[in-house]
Amino acid sequence: MTTRVYTLPVEQTRWNIEGGAKTVFTWDYDEGRDKLLNLYEKGKNKQWNSRERIDWSLEVDRDNPIGGPEQYVPIYGSRIWEEMGERDRAQLQLHTASWQFSQFLHGEQGALVCAAKIVQTVPDIDSKFYAATQVVDEARHVETYSRFLYEKLDLAYPVNVHLKALLDNVVSDARWDLTYLGMQVLIEGLALAAFGLIRDVAENPLARAVNAYVMEDEARHVAFGRLALRDVYPQLTSKEIDEREEFCVEACYLMRDRFLAEEVWDTLGLPVDECLEFVSKSEAMMQFRGLLFTRIVPTLKDIGLFGDRIRAAFADMGVLGYTAVDLDSVMADDERAAGEIDRARRLQVEETIAAGAA
Ligand SMILES: [Fe+2]
Ligand SMILES: [Fe+2]
Repeated sequence: MTTRVYTLPVEQTRWNIEGGAKTVFTWDYDEGRDKLLNLYEKGKNKQWNSRERIDWSLEVDRDNPIGGPEQYVPIYGSRIWEEMGERDRAQLQLHTASWQFSQFLHGEQGALVCAAKIVQTVPDIDSKFYAATQVVDEARHVETYSRFLYEKLDLAYPVNVHLKALLDNVVSDARWDLTYLGMQVLIEGLALAAFGLIRDVAENPLARAVNAYVMEDEARHVAFGRLALRDVYPQLTSKEIDEREEFCVEACYLMRDRFLAEEVWDTLGLPVDECLEFVSKSEAMMQFRGLLFTRIVPTLKDIGLFGDRIRAAFADMGVLGYTAVDLDSVMADDERAAGEIDRARRLQVEETIAAGAA
């Protein structure tokens, strides 16, 4: 995708981060953990091609790209929304969708870079194998979101300043487990929940398919983070665990309180402070932001990062109840949802061929 579709000026097209990570070779090629090797097999078998699996001829209505209810516009119900005409509301739908998909796109590039970094830094061969399949998955996700934005919305937003700060933190940290924790558990966990909300409300078949297919892969990535960290964290000292819990708490508050689409309000000439005030306080948006933690909370519990500090933060956010989410069953649901879209597409192709023959 070129920058010419960006709605805001992009001051530079390259962003460099100093890493300082250590590259690890292993000569032990035989000691793979079964669960990780199974995931690697699955990763290889479930590769797909965005050009073939997705029907890119499907149209997207730029006035309502996702085809969801108006309630999904963050300032729905505000004074500003009530005073808007139909044209301005449609414009806002386009910009909100573009902002959201753009952050997915930039986040996916972060995941691409992190998966490659894991190949380099993780000590075990089974993890290097799995992470290698993830590199291809993430490249495909970048390709897919980029094509959706470029071809269908013709509008993109630069990376959000808070997402950029989070990516900077994760990528610049030299400790390999922090790459997993920051990217595979927190950022991908949040993204999975956000993709899921779109997949489940989108009436537009292309927006649904894009998110469902990406989710099918992401569920494996979160599982990879869980499996790898579950083995490592019980061996850390309480000081090391404490540092990681502090990192998670800070990242979770940042993700909940700062991703408020301020660039959209600014671009459309809306009163930014009033929009931010509304979005941060509205009951519906608070509920929506809570839902973003459905994958993160049970994963952190599962890997053993669930001390007083984290529990207190999740209680404060009102998301502690998600500890009960069964990760294996939601992952199976994600695979099922993608499979259903495949079946519907196959049926449609068969019908078209039959109609042609008749
Ligand atoms: Fe991804
Ligand atoms: Fe991923």
